[in-house]
Amino acid sequence: MKSTILKSITIFSLLLALLSCKEEKKKIEYPKTDLSVNALIPKPIKVIPTHTAFGLDSSTVIFTDQSATGFEAVGQFLANKIKEVTPLELGVNTSIDESVRRIIYITKTDSLAQDSPEAYELYIQNDTILLSARSAAGAFRGVQTLRQLIPEAANDTISSSSMWLIPSGKIIDAPQYAYRGAMLDVARHFFTVAEVKRYLDQLAYYKINKFHLHLTDDQGWRIEIKSWPKLTTIGAKTEVGGTKGGFYTQEDYKEIVAYAAERHIEVIPEIDMPGHINAAVYSYPILNGNGKSVNNYTGMRVGFSTLDTRKDTVYKFIDDVIGELAAISPSPYFHIGGDETFATKKKDYLHFINKVEAIVNQHGKQMMGWNEISQADISSNTIHQLWKEKHHSVEAAKKGAKIVLSPGNKSYLDMKYDANTKLGLTWAGFIPVDSAYQWRPSTFIKGLGKEHILGIEAPLWSETITNSDDLEYLAFPRVIGIAELGWTQEEFYDWESYKKRLGLQVPYLKRNSINYFNATEVPWER
Ligand code: ACM
Repeated sequence: MKSTILKSITIFSLLLALLSCKEEKKKIEYPKTDLSVNALIPKPIKVIPTHTAFGLDSSTVIFTDQSATGFEAVGQFLANKIKEVTPLELGVNTSIDESVRRIIYITKTDSLAQDSPEAYELYIQNDTILLSARSAAGAFRGVQTLRQLIPEAANDTISSSSMWLIPSGKIIDAPQYAYRGAMLDVARHFFTVAEVKRYLDQLAYYKINKFHLHLTDDQGWRIEIKSWPKLTTIGAKTEVGGTKGGFYTQEDYKEIVAYAAERHIEVIPEIDMPGHINAAVYSYPILNGNGKSVNNYTGMRVGFSTLDTRKDTVYKFIDDVIGELAAISPSPYFHIGGDETFATKKKDYLHFINKVEAIVNQHGKQMMGWNEISQADISSNTIHQLWKEKHHSVEAAKKGAKIVLSPGNKSYLDMKYDANTKLGLTWAGFIPVDSAYQWRPSTFIKGLGKEHILGIEAPLWSETITNSDDLEYLAFPRVIGIAELGWTQEEFYDWESYKKRLGLQVPYLKRNSINYFNATEVPWER
């Protein structure tokens, strides 16, 4: 460990020495800044201002640890993002010639104060920014903080070139929860690869690190399974309202996974079963277990479909589906749904969940499932996702399972903001922006403290939304609040502080044409 630190310090000192040889002719008078007054979301653990600035300009280069996996890509990501918001095209790991005056150095270290793999520290001075992290994921999170500190406008008076002044000081940061997720339902309405990528970009900016894809439901099957082709030649052709649906080929899915991975976001696939399965049983009626004739379905009612939980063919089907998808899913988790199985007898449901857990494990994955799965004999490495009754989570925790919290009345992005919201549903009530922010994961379920909580997730069900504009209207700004609750230490949760920082997201939201809801309780920057 010492040698890595020494190596980093040595390279860094060399760079500094190089810089000081090339003193600018005129000393720059940086204006007084205050790093502690900023719009960072999520709020970091510690911000120590030093009241001067780093002058991001055309003489700046990005330099990264080249022996550490993924660091150069993080540097390149930063260069690309700087190019999106300024005219600057910064070199990454290019040779340092006399035109270079300022350096952003991204380095791997094992000696941070915080021990999370996503921890990072940012040290911002006049001529150098040092971003240190234990892993490329940590460096990537630090880069999001840095992006949030770059001002919209350049200063054209203190230097001969335009400078984007980044307030100086030190930021020490790490996430509170390892799992900070967002879910998108692409079954009720299909979302294209481009639309999914757009959402991933937005989530990455707020340090979300899990993207749960709800790939199948009664209304449509959205992922190619080569051994069961009718799932997509038949099952993908419908969606809510009778429009044409769609699906991802396995190549599309890999493209989404790779795009997410570049943003250090893990994609968790969900195949919902034994209920929410009409699209599959319509494609292959042999799988049907509700004893009724099957037709395609484009409505919004839930709970009428079920697999036949006592048929070998059904388990062969599940083994094939999980096998093909697990093989192209780097995530350790595989979500099997398990919710709202009103057409499955309880004893059949329990038998089913136990068998499916074994199949998921055989494919090298940990099972993840909604509330209801804790009634089965689940193992301690299964992840329970709360959406409704808290007693199910208590039961899961007793079995040793970790909990992801997605309470319907707080984190469901598809609930309307208020009675005037055109999109969305109301079964869990209205969720105004302040309410989505004002809850605490560690005390949400009595008796289930932090040690039981893996993290939180904001699901977005798509019965009423069909495109990115609709998606963003429901997700933004509430998903930003969920991102802060997942990352920031609970002692720093504060609606008054948060709403001001949220109001200052307007330049980012506008620049990226994000169709956010203009909540009146937020002081939006005009
Ligand atoms: C759910 O909302 N049925 C998980």
